[in-house]
Amino acid sequence: MCKRCFPFLLVRLTSVYNKQMASTKRGLFSSLQELGSPSGKLCLLELSCGTGANFKFYLPGCRVTCVDPNPNFEKFLIKSIAENRHVQFERFVVAAGENMHPVADGSMDVVVCTLVLCSVENQERILQEVRRVLRGGGKEESDFLKLRMVHPP
Ligand SMILES: C[S@@+](CC[C@H](N)C(=O)[O-])C[C@H]1O[C@@H](n2cnc3c(N)ncnc32)[C@H](O)[C@@H]1O
Repeated sequence: MCKRCFPFLLVRLTSVYNKQMASTKRGLFSSLQELGSPSGKLCLLELSCGTGANFKFYLPGCRVTCVDPNPNFEKFLIKSIAENRHVQFERFVVAAGENMHPVADGSMDVVVCTLVLCSVENQERILQEVRRVLRGGGKEESDFLKLRMVHPP
């Protein structure tokens, strides 16, 4: 029941939160281009995508794979995709961050994760999975993550 209702609640909170955080998010996501592959393509995995609240801040052409353990977000994602035609949606994987096995090793340039790690049981396991899916094991990218960690006011 809770899993079904949560997306409806989150979509409302997101609209308020995104207004407050718009300039911070724009600043953070503006540097994504630096992390693209040599071909210039940017493969981005949004871990715990929820309703797709971050799509509007992504660069045009960005290829987005979404992961979330709650399948009830799918219909909200479809709406966000329709509203954000500048991003290229790849697929929605229903999985917890602790085990993202459908996502291949080294297949992503960037992993984005907002409003999640403070409430999961096993942060370490999730970060191991993030490193696994990142191109080159996430060396440069994890520095990026450290630099870009922000806390809302
Ligand atoms: C507060 S919402 C944030 C959603 C979105 N990232 C945002 O910024 O709007 C938390 C999200 O984490 C997901 N979640 C909960 N446990 C998780 C886990 N173990 N691994 C991955 N995602 C999880 C929930 O399904 C939900 O989508």
